Amino acid sequence: MAKIIVVTSGKGGVGKTTSAAAIATGLALRGNKTIVIDFDVGLRNLDLIMGCERRVVYDLVNVIQGEATLNQAMIRDKRTENLFILPASQTRDKDALTPEGVEQVLNNLKDEFDYIICDSPAGIERGAQLAMYYADEAIVVTNPEVSSVRDSDRILGLLGSKTRLAEQGKEQVKEHLLITRYNPHRVDHGDMLNLNDITEILSIKLLGLIPESEAVLRASNQGVPVTHDDDSDAGQAYADTVSRLLGEDVPLRFHEAQKKSFLSRMFGGRR
Ligand SMILES: Nc1ncnc2c1ncn2[C@@H]1O[C@H](COP(=O)(O)OP(=O)(O)OP(=O)(O)O)[C@@H](O)[C@H]1O
Ligand SMILES: [Mg+2]
Repeated sequence: MAKIIVVTSGKGGVGKTTSAAAIATGLALRGNKTIVIDFDVGLRNLDLIMGCERRVVYDLVNVIQGEATLNQAMIRDKRTENLFILPASQTRDKDALTPEGVEQVLNNLKDEFDYIICDSPAGIERGAQLAMYYADEAIVVTNPEVSSVRDSDRILGLLGSKTRLAEQGKEQVKEHLLITRYNPHRVDHGDMLNLNDITEILSIKLLGLIPESEAVLRASNQGVPVTHDDDSDAGQAYADTVSRLLGEDVPLRFHEAQKKSFLSRMFGGRR
């Protein structure tokens, strides 16, 4: 039975789609059959990050409205075995998704997959609520700035009240914090919130910390999730994040500014 994990944030542009693609890729690379679903109807992006935009024929809305089967709409990733993408529609509006339709799609996928990753649209309205409604777990993506942390706090409120698990009153959606675009130098200068401030305000368990990295931009331009770039800081940070999601105890990296050594200060970093 698949675990359904929503990648959500409240605030827009914090790295949800980047993270959904990178984490889904990491889970598949570790041998888990994984599908990543784009819930951002009207503004689809996931297909670009996954590098399969030319292969999109049908989408989630087509499946919900009975115009295509799931097998017709799912795209098999070319690089990673066990990885599939279900794209969003670019043309329809957000109301094309219905709770019943989403439930049916998820039910049909649950037996076949180990993980279903839902890439949420920004905001706290209907689209975001639908993306989180059936989730077992949530990855709350937060940037080290006040507005992002505040919106994540609102999302945590919704996860605790407006999800199926919350309504059934049995158990809570398991919440994970993922801090992205972390720049330790700017944190040290006081331009950004530090790790401890964020975890203290939100008081949920830290799943991972992804540094601000040029590798992310490069990866998205190439349509290759950054997890494949295992020489890069962001690629390694996402791999660590996936290991923790799988229950492993992995120490945190990339949260401290690299201090330049005496020699590199003297010789301009050539040593
Ligand atoms: N760790 C990072 N380092 C540098 N840039 C990043 C990082 N993570 C994300 N970005 C950049 O931030 C921008 C927004 O990322 P992304 O599209 O993943 O956010 P999103 O939360 O899905 O946005 P939306 O709310 O619009 O769906 C992109 O240009 C992406 O390349
Ligand atoms: Mg997005």
